[in-house]
Amino acid sequence: MTATAVIIGVGAEKGLGAALCRRFGACGLHVLAAGRTLDNVERVAASIRGNGGVATAVATDTTDEEQVIELFRRAEAVGPVDLAVFNAGNNMPGDLLTMEASYFERCWRVGCFGGFLFGREAARVMKPRGRGTLLFTGASASLRGKPFFAAFTAAKGGLRNFAQSMAREFAPQGIHVGHVVIDGGIAGDRIEKGVPQFAEAMGPEGLIDLDGIASIYEMLYRQPRTAWSHEVDVRTFKESF
Ligand SMILES: NC(=O)c1ccc[n+]([C@@H]2O[C@H](COP(=O)([O-])OP(=O)(O)OC[C@H]3O[C@@H](n4cnc5c(N)ncnc54)[C@H](OP(=O)(O)O)[C@@H]3O)[C@@H](O)[C@H]2O)c1
Repeated sequence: MTATAVIIGVGAEKGLGAALCRRFGACGLHVLAAGRTLDNVERVAASIRGNGGVATAVATDTTDEEQVIELFRRAEAVGPVDLAVFNAGNNMPGDLLTMEASYFERCWRVGCFGGFLFGREAARVMKPRGRGTLLFTGASASLRGKPFFAAFTAAKGGLRNFAQSMAREFAPQGIHVGHVVIDGGIAGDRIEKGVPQFAEAMGPEGLIDLDGIASIYEMLYRQPRTAWSHEVDVRTFKESF
């Protein structure tokens, strides 16, 4: 049976989720591309199949416990889950004094609670085999809170600590848990189409390259268990930090 990679938080073709699906499809894993919008994940899966890989699109909302359980059930029916990537989480800025409680909670549900549901299901299937890699996507907000990013920072900071806790609990059981801090804007649709003025302000080579990020995830996946990294950060040469 071909080993599977479950990747959640897959949307635009020019987005990190899709780039990770393509990368691990090229590595020979059967990719389960998961996101809320079936058309988007179908498109990503089709592009992997078009390049000779194997992929299945699964509409999944990471905040829905039953859907996340079903995603891993479907993956295990295809082949053992060897890689799971939690990539969901959108930047949700906002002025604190006028922020609705529901807005804060939605940000946490997608960016942190969704990571718990996904990580738990990954550990449940990986633990009996004593192997597997579980990677979480972080952001600058994983490490520090800036004005107007209270909700996003709380979600990403919580996700980072959750990933650390999982790493310490499951490393001795053969599961490699990693967290990637993406410290800056990504050269993908979310910035280039969503906030083109930001992309322009960053100038040439001002945004982080998608393939470059995918190479970090692949490096983490391929590390021998005698030399595991838990956290890796990535930024452009222009970014101050
Ligand atoms: N873009 C950046 O500049 C940047 C910078 C630093 C860190 N990051 C992090 O990188 C990751 C990916 O960002 P990206 O901008 O490249 O986006 P992306 O990978 O293109 O898209 C992530 C996708 O996640 C999906 N998603 C959102 N909520 C979901 C949910 N509840 N359940 C399942 N899927 C959900 C969305 O698709 P649907 O709406 O169709 O479900 C979205 O398109 C995120 O964790 C983000 O915080 C991004």
